[in-house]
Amino acid sequence: MQNKVTISEVGQHVGESVTFGGWLTRRRSSGKIQFLQLRDGTGFIQGVLVKEEVSEEAWENAGKLTQESSLYVTGVVREDPRSKSGYELSVTGIEIIQITQDYPITPKEHGVDFLMDHRHLWLRAPRQRAIMRIRAQIISAIQEFFDRNGFTLVDPPILTPSSAEGTTELFHIKYFDEDAYLTQSGQLYMEAAAMALGKVYSFGPTFRAEKSKTRRHLIEFWMIEPEMAFVDHEENLRVQEQFVSHVVGKVLENCRPELETLERDISALERVKPPFPRITYDEAIKMLGELGMELPWGEDFGAPHETALAEKFDRPLFITHYPTGIKAFYMKPDPSRPEVVLCADMIAPEGYGEIIGGSQRIDDPGLMEERFKEHELSPEAYQWYLDLRRYGTVPHSGFGLGLERTVSWICGLEHVRETIAFPRMLYRLYP
Ligand code: 4AD
Ligand code: MG
Repeated sequence: MQNKVTISEVGQHVGESVTFGGWLTRRRSSGKIQFLQLRDGTGFIQGVLVKEEVSEEAWENAGKLTQESSLYVTGVVREDPRSKSGYELSVTGIEIIQITQDYPITPKEHGVDFLMDHRHLWLRAPRQRAIMRIRAQIISAIQEFFDRNGFTLVDPPILTPSSAEGTTELFHIKYFDEDAYLTQSGQLYMEAAAMALGKVYSFGPTFRAEKSKTRRHLIEFWMIEPEMAFVDHEENLRVQEQFVSHVVGKVLENCRPELETLERDISALERVKPPFPRITYDEAIKMLGELGMELPWGEDFGAPHETALAEKFDRPLFITHYPTGIKAFYMKPDPSRPEVVLCADMIAPEGYGEIIGGSQRIDDPGLMEERFKEHELSPEAYQWYLDLRRYGTVPHSGFGLGLERTVSWICGLEHVRETIAFPRMLYRLYP
């Protein structure tokens, strides 16, 4: 095929005849001119055919094209400042691959259930494409941040013999004659890795059998979990604000067209720069009281509480020092106040909720054993984890960032279901 390109490359071929494979999203005709809205996955461009200037065959083939028909199109690239892409194609030839009949997703409005049933096709929509592009940019910025800052990528297992975050949300499976669970978090393994490599991070899928049907919960989601030896609570927060600012900055730098497609308010993202505000759990309880949302000390926040608190700030908010009783067994108590732990949740602005959970970890073997008892965790199953405290224990900290909630926030989406190509949600496993 002569001069085969992608739509994203047409700018380098102005004035030339090029060919690309694509799909028709819409066709308009005024009798003497046909306008073809074309996409090839890498971009969008309008193709124009003037009846008097093209072959009869090209004209007739264009007329047969229906929504989502696939084709090879040949034409001359023209600069066109009026068009969004900046270019237009003067079509000279059309080779039809398939004429599509009855594409289910039409330009009219469809309900969410219908769209979710057709997720495999819905992904082709410009809005969904923009979200997937931003997700990929976020992932790449995440890896860039950690790779550049001396972290080593380590992959924790997905099949695990015990729980990392609590036993109620585990997906149970058979591992030959043993019981196994899909991982909820790689953290405990990352702690072992940090003792071997200093600064490490993982990036992988995690699973939670949560019976929550909210706009923030997925059953399968991706988490980035850095873990750092010789790093305390305070240093942990500094890494987090640098990290999140880097990721947002990269999206602003490289995804302008996609943010525009999503009509995202950029100014809210531009404010995401360190330092992030910090309040303690105690201060949060007080602020909630002043807002008429009283909560007894010791209770965890729900989404409405997080949203109300986040609204008071113009960038991500750290809430620190939660009560020991509502947090995970491995969090280190504040030495000056053991009823709270050295932890922080990062709450995204604009009502997107918690995107990071992290803490300094318990490094004392005796206290860790006590926690096993309190949380009824079998000491045999966690022997290896205790070893990390027995053989050269050190202060260490880490955190987990939920990728989909982060994508949801940065893209400004109403629901996490659009942040991953094929979301696994309560009561949805198809397609
Ligand atoms: O707060 P979580 O449960 O923390 C941990 O799993 C720690 N082990 C992390 C660590 O310190 N290494 O989860 C971390 C983040 C949350 O802040 C949230 O962004 C995301 O994971 N998350 C979910 N995202 C989508 N759907 C769910 N069901 C999620 N549960 C948690
Ligand atoms: Mg959490």
